[in-house]
Amino acid sequence: MVIAIDGPAASGKGTLARRLAAHYGLPHLDTGLLYRAVGARCLADGRLGDEAASVKAAQSLDVSVLDPDALRTAELGEAASVVAARPGVRAALLDLQRRFAGQTGGAVLDGRDIGTVICPDAPAKLFVTARPEVRADRRFRELVGRGEEITYDAVLADILKRDERDSGRSSAPLLKADDAVLLDTSDLGIEAAFAAALAIVEARRG
Ligand code: DC
Repeated sequence: MVIAIDGPAASGKGTLARRLAAHYGLPHLDTGLLYRAVGARCLADGRLGDEAASVKAAQSLDVSVLDPDALRTAELGEAASVVAARPGVRAALLDLQRRFAGQTGGAVLDGRDIGTVICPDAPAKLFVTARPEVRADRRFRELVGRGEEITYDAVLADILKRDERDSGRSSAPLLKADDAVLLDTSDLGIEAAFAAALAIVEARRG
């Protein structure tokens, strides 16, 4: 069974993907980490503005060394969003995501285009969202908890900018698949959101 989870930054999709994967005993891929790793490579080389360099970085990405802790910074979220708008970068990362989804028994993938582009035939699709202020508050707490020095206003501005870039790009924009179920987590705690997500997946499984 493939479970496809999409949604904007800090909507709760990552937490739900991890919980669903644990519940069903499925492998989980946070596809945002792939774009973050490509963005990190480009930033380190001082070539974030260089499209060809970002495509090369995506083609030579070594997924065995992705460090989630190092990659989940605000700066790399922004860099990821920049490189993710380039069709060549997305094309270079397509096969590895499809291979991951094709594992025997299935997988859980979360990102922006899983239900629309990567796994259009996934039986269970969720589009997880929340109001921007709620998402900014969650991300702010997470980043401060990890020791980043950042303000709530800066996080909200970053989220709005990324929403606009991720939704407005021509290549695989953030979009709810027609057959995805919308889950708004704005007023739900983690347990209630998980229960709702589980009910959606179970309905699709049955
Ligand atoms: O989910 P995240 O915040 O780690 O993602 C970082 C950026 O990567 C996001 O702003 C857009 C891009 N991304 C994408 O375009 N497609 C995906 N499947 C996952 C992430």
